[in-house]
Amino acid sequence: MARRTGADEAADAYERHLAEHDRDRRRAQGAFYTPPELVAWVLDHALPADGTAVTVLDPACGTGHFLVAAARRLGVRAVHGSDLDPEAIRIARERLHAEDPTVPAEEIERQVVVADGLTAWAGRTFAAVVGNPPFLGQLRRHSAGRSEEHRRGLGAYTDTSAVFLRRSLDLVGQGGVVALVQPLSVLAARDAGAVRAAVASRGAVTDFWCADGPVFAGTPVLTCVPVVRVGAAPSTDPDGWGALAAPAFGIPAVTLPPGTGTVGDLADCTADFRDQYYGLAPFVHDRLPGGVPLVTTGLIDPAESRWGRAPTRFARRRYDAPSVDLAALRAGGGLARWADARLVPKLLVAGQGRVIEAVADEHGAWLPSVPVVSVVPGVRADLWRLLAVLLAPPVVAHAAARYLGTGLTPGSVKVSARQVAALPLPADEHAWAEGARLARVAQAAASGDERAALLAATGRIMTDAYRADPASYDWWWGRVRRRPDESGDPGWSTPA
Ligand SMILES: C[S@@+](CC[C@H](N)C(=O)[O-])C[C@H]1O[C@@H](n2cnc3c(N)ncnc32)[C@H](O)[C@@H]1O
Repeated sequence: MARRTGADEAADAYERHLAEHDRDRRRAQGAFYTPPELVAWVLDHALPADGTAVTVLDPACGTGHFLVAAARRLGVRAVHGSDLDPEAIRIARERLHAEDPTVPAEEIERQVVVADGLTAWAGRTFAAVVGNPPFLGQLRRHSAGRSEEHRRGLGAYTDTSAVFLRRSLDLVGQGGVVALVQPLSVLAARDAGAVRAAVASRGAVTDFWCADGPVFAGTPVLTCVPVVRVGAAPSTDPDGWGALAAPAFGIPAVTLPPGTGTVGDLADCTADFRDQYYGLAPFVHDRLPGGVPLVTTGLIDPAESRWGRAPTRFARRRYDAPSVDLAALRAGGGLARWADARLVPKLLVAGQGRVIEAVADEHGAWLPSVPVVSVVPGVRADLWRLLAVLLAPPVVAHAAARYLGTGLTPGSVKVSARQVAALPLPADEHAWAEGARLARVAQAAASGDERAALLAATGRIMTDAYRADPASYDWWWGRVRRRPDESGDPGWSTPA
């Protein structure tokens, strides 16, 4: 255990103060401090192993956890930091001074400054940029207000932490390393796509840390650290970072044969939005005779709709069997065309679950409730073959890894309409046809046990259809078997 100074105690006291008495400020600044083991991991991977003297920057250094740990390895003169919080900077300086009292205070004051980390340090380069920048998402305006210019080219919703990552690429030279703590969503969030592309154009993610549970006291956000080496040969597909984290979540690696097309080649995949949600609300009744079943995500299981057999919620109300008064809806005008377009044979896909949950509406008799995705086959496409694709374990493992971190619960599989359309088709036509037949009988099964046996058979044959490793089947089946508990927790498995 490293020695502790009086200034370290002051840092702890200040963090306790923010946690206990100044929660709004802590949230607004994104001030959740980093545990020592994670600081050590980051420095182990960001600094040269041979002890070469190099310079390090933490652009959002807080009370200086990274700076103090780096100073213990490299000396106080090697470390640089910035933060918007003057009290945190005062403490960071004091801690560094306590580490090496021979370094004049003025020198430390030039290295560790009250400044916006997104604009400070222009023109400087460091061997490594490390740290745990604020995660602020849409709250960012409270903090990094002066930094708008650094968001240019990034989406308006790009998290501040990803903006720090983008900016840090400019602050290291060739061979330099950027290792910043990021929310797990950086792996797949659409709004971080430009940042992933910037990383891919400048270097590669050469090491990766992530945890399957929260490591920051006071926030449930899941985090990761992609270690980016500038100038390293690109190895990671900018849209495929999720695969880096998959092993930590027990998701088996799958390589799908290329070039066989995607779901979008065979079907239209669409999600509905608030217009449909609010527009529908006045026409929904419980157990309305002759009404059209409204199927919510919670009612969709693999090859099964539990509509009418399980209660559900819609527009803040509980229903036993939510039913749409179609005549009144048509008379009302607004959603008539929408309803006609949806009342066709289709698959309904729950946006998020332990696996991809999809059920066939063979007769076009159900309406989807937001955020259910509708998959409407084209003229020559077969509903059951599409269902078999969405039940295929390698497809689900592929989606789980690729879109990891975008769901509410990590480890749950979340797919948008666009992502459903991008799911790959199998290579083996013969096995696929058999999978489609089994999916159809699974959905028609008279009992839960019968359905389970048929689903398992569908999963096995579809694993063959993709010529994939049986590990994806074992993983998928383990998740299908576990039913969600009463609290609605999707029950995703914790990796060993
Ligand atoms: C999550 S804390 C991490 C602190 C430190 N890296 C650590 O792990 O101990 C984030 C810090 O970012 C600071 N911050 C927020 N916006 C900033 C900005 N635009 N520039 C510099 N620091 C900022 C907050 O004051 C807070 O101290």
